[in-house]
Amino acid sequence: MTRLKTAVLISGRGSNMVALVRAAQDPDYPADIQLVISNRPKAAGLERARKLSVEAIAIDHKAFPDRESFEDALHDALSARGIEFIACAGFMRVLTPGFVGKWVGRMINIHPSLLPKYKGLHTHRRAIEAGDRDGGASVHWVADEVDGGGIIAQARVPILLTDTEDTLAARVLERELTLYPEGLALAATAVING
Ligand code: GRF
Repeated sequence: MTRLKTAVLISGRGSNMVALVRAAQDPDYPADIQLVISNRPKAAGLERARKLSVEAIAIDHKAFPDRESFEDALHDALSARGIEFIACAGFMRVLTPGFVGKWVGRMINIHPSLLPKYKGLHTHRRAIEAGDRDGGASVHWVADEVDGGGIIAQARVPILLTDTEDTLAARVLERELTLYPEGLALAATAVING
């Protein structure tokens, strides 16, 4: 069967990345995770990926004078390995339209809110402060507007009166770990079927 050669971009602990790699261990899963890239050399996720036998490299954005040259290095690393699809998972760099344009329709992200609500940072704090009854997470296509692309899959999680930003983040993250493998499978299947 056709499986898309997929890279996961991370910046931190990589729990979503691990969930994607585990899902892709099934030979019938439509994405094959072949590479993990972190823009932060100390990201804990790099070691977690290596333990799962996935090539994991750091491309430190601080080593480049501007966003474009960092993204050129990123694009070169992906192209050199024949990567066909990108899943961003806690990747904390804004991508410019130049990079997005090269990967549009082949790049997805997971965002910890019920998009279109709460694009950007501090999503759980904002949902609690607004008095929302539900939070959640969204898997979406990456477009020029940050967190603004078409939604592929969403999961809703209750917000409890006792919730803090941290307890809500933990409840949403647990749900993300099944949502993202489902969302990547949907997106990869759509690409394979053209
Ligand atoms: C997740 O909550 C994800 O939705 C957000 O950043 C967090 C990444 O966590 N974009 P992890 O690195 O997957 O553990």
